[in-house]
Order: sequence, then structure tokens, then C-alpha cells
Amino acid sequence: MSQAAPAWVNVLPDEDYQHSFGLKAGRAEKFFAPTERHAELLAQRRHWLRSDTARCAALLPAAEPLLEEAIALAVKWNSLPGAAGLTAAALHQAAVVPHPGPLPLGEGAATGARRGTTSAGSASALADGPPLPAGEGRGEGESARHTEGFQQDFKAAPFARCLALGEFWEPDYLLLKPDAVTGRFHLVGGCVCFPSSWRFEEKVGKPLEVIHTPVPHLNDQLASPIHNFLGRIKPGAAWCRTNWGLSRSPELNQHPARGLPKLVPPLREDEVWLRVEDQALVALPESRGVLFGIRMTVIPLAEVKRHPTATRGLARALRTMPDAMLDYKSLLAAKGELVRLLET
Ligand code: HEM
Repeated sequence: MSQAAPAWVNVLPDEDYQHSFGLKAGRAEKFFAPTERHAELLAQRRHWLRSDTARCAALLPAAEPLLEEAIALAVKWNSLPGAAGLTAAALHQAAVVPHPGPLPLGEGAATGARRGTTSAGSASALADGPPLPAGEGRGEGESARHTEGFQQDFKAAPFARCLALGEFWEPDYLLLKPDAVTGRFHLVGGCVCFPSSWRFEEKVGKPLEVIHTPVPHLNDQLASPIHNFLGRIKPGAAWCRTNWGLSRSPELNQHPARGLPKLVPPLREDEVWLRVEDQALVALPESRGVLFGIRMTVIPLAEVKRHPTATRGLARALRTMPDAMLDYKSLLAAKGELVRLLET
């Protein structure tokens, strides 16, 4: 019995490779909703956000109102898991409990990124188990030091809230704000646990055109349409598009600092994974900022090969992709080998 092809097959049409704007209207509630992989994804997100905070999360002061709007949307969309009784109040409570882990971008870094306070042995911002109702869990005999700690935590709350949202949502999220003078969109914060070989921590504070500089010809072809589009998105809908890549490990987190294996020959079929990056852009009406969500799906090459259109589309994209783009995507050395694996 034949089954419907999975949605990712559409990202590999039987066409020559080109940069595509490719935005389609979608539903934000659906994009950010928990899926059947919720527990597994959140466990990974928690791991990276706690063990490598500086590379995964940042919140410039300018991002704080955007974060609050994103949290309000998350609550409205019901995209924070209801079963755990997570409400806006719980998220707020999570935010005032200290978060362990290293400093994001260094304390007092020029970017002005904020962080939660670190208390050895303290509960994490999102300790397992139900969150404490506001005001509970701090005994009557609580010391002055504890009160001081609470006040510090409260001051640090925005960054703890940023981390909390990063641990509750399955997708990575980025917050972009238009510059008051130029209107150019700058990346001002978010949580990125599953990057495809780019460094979130180096992009924070930068305008989108600068962020896109490493992508060959992207700015020549699409900087203006992207800028115009971001300035015009109306609240309500999510605008969705997809990127794809290939990797030599199924790890969701492909941060360059991890030194994961690269796609260089010789390669076996079971050493190659397709990475499909579903993206959603959502307007933040109060701040006029943009929420950018990224969901990663990793598919073994053997599975790709079960879908003839996707197999043809991927081989054709590799054959027709300019060398500069193959190089950017770390596919130049493996191109021939990958096409051979797809065509045999
Ligand atoms: C709205 C339309 C957008 C389009 C058409 C677009 C397009 C692209 C394309 C084609 C790539 C190359 C990906 C690849 O083939 O591997 C890319 C990379 C990237 N994009 Fe976008 N993008 C858009 C919006 C955004 C936004 C809002 C952000 C938020 C910061 C963003 C951040 C990035 C980053 C971080 C990379 C990786 C850059 C690197 O490797 O250093 N993009 N984008």
C-alpha cells in the first residue's frame, strides 16, 4: 500500500538549484506546537542550553520587549506543553529561579547580553517536575542572603525567560528588530540549539544582510526583497520557507565548535543525512519586530532514496549548484561521491 510522501520531499524538486525566497502562508500555532518528538527534543534543548549557554542563547536589552511578545504569543497559541501545567505565570516563575551554566557572551560583554545568575547547587530555571506556584517554595525562615539572591534573579529575569522559552519550545527561535533610523532588521536575541554549521553567538547584534554575507550571492539576489518583506509582515500568519543541507552525522546541533565529521570522500550511504530546516516568520505587532522559528529534521540518505523525486531533485541540485555555494554548504569535496550515492 502506498503512503503519502513526507512533507520534506517537496524541498527537493526536480529543478536546477537556485536561491529561493519561497515564502508561503502557514499557521504559527501549528509551527510552534509540540510534536510526538517533544520529550526527546526538549531533553536535547535543555542539555545544550545548560551546558553551552554562551553559544546557544543571547538577549540584548533591545530584545526584551520582543521576548515578552513572543512569550505572550506562545501562551496564546497554547504551544507550551499544557500537560505540565505551564502557563505564563509558570514561565514567569521559571524565570526567577537561577539558571546554571556559563555566561552567555561573557559578563559585561560589549553586546550587552543578559544572563541569569549562577548559583552552585541551585535549581535550574526549568527544573524537572512541576514549577512552583509564584511565592511558594521559599520557607519562612529564608535568609537575607536568599532574599538578595531572589532580587538578583529577578533583575536577571529577562535572560532566564529567554532560556525558559528556549527550553519549552521545540523550534529554535530568533528575535529581529528594525533599526529606528535605517529600518534594517538586526538579530537581537533568541535560543539556537540546532544550528547548521553557523555560529549564533557571532550573529547576535548584526543586521540581517551582514548575517547573510557568507551565503554566496544571497544578498545580491534577495537582500532587498527580504528587507521589504520583513517590514510588511502582518500579525497573525506565519510565513514559512525551507532550507536544506547535508551532514555526516545525525546530530541536530552542528555548531562548528563541536568539530563534527565533514562530508569528504570516501563516503558510505549510511554516513550521510539530509537536514531539512523549516522556518517560520511571525510579526510582533507591538515592537514591530519579527519572531523567526527554525525546526530541524534529519533524514538518513537511505530514507531519501526511498523517494524517487527527492532523490532526483537532490542529485540535480548538487549537479547544478555553483561551486561557491557547494563550498559554503561544505559539499564541494563530496559532490561527485554524493551524486554517485544518489544515482546507484
Ligand atoms: C526571509 C527570507 C529569508 C531567506 C530567503 C533566507 C535565505 C537564506 C539562505 C538561502 C541561506 C543559505 C542556507 C543554505 O543553503 O545552507 C540562509 C542562511 C542563513 N540565514 Fe537566512 N533567509 C531568510 C531570513 C533569515 C532570517 C530572518 C534570519 C534571522 C537571523 C536568517 C538567518 C540566516 C543564517 C544565520 C544563515 C546561515 C548563515 C551562515 O552560514 O553564516 N535568515 N538564509
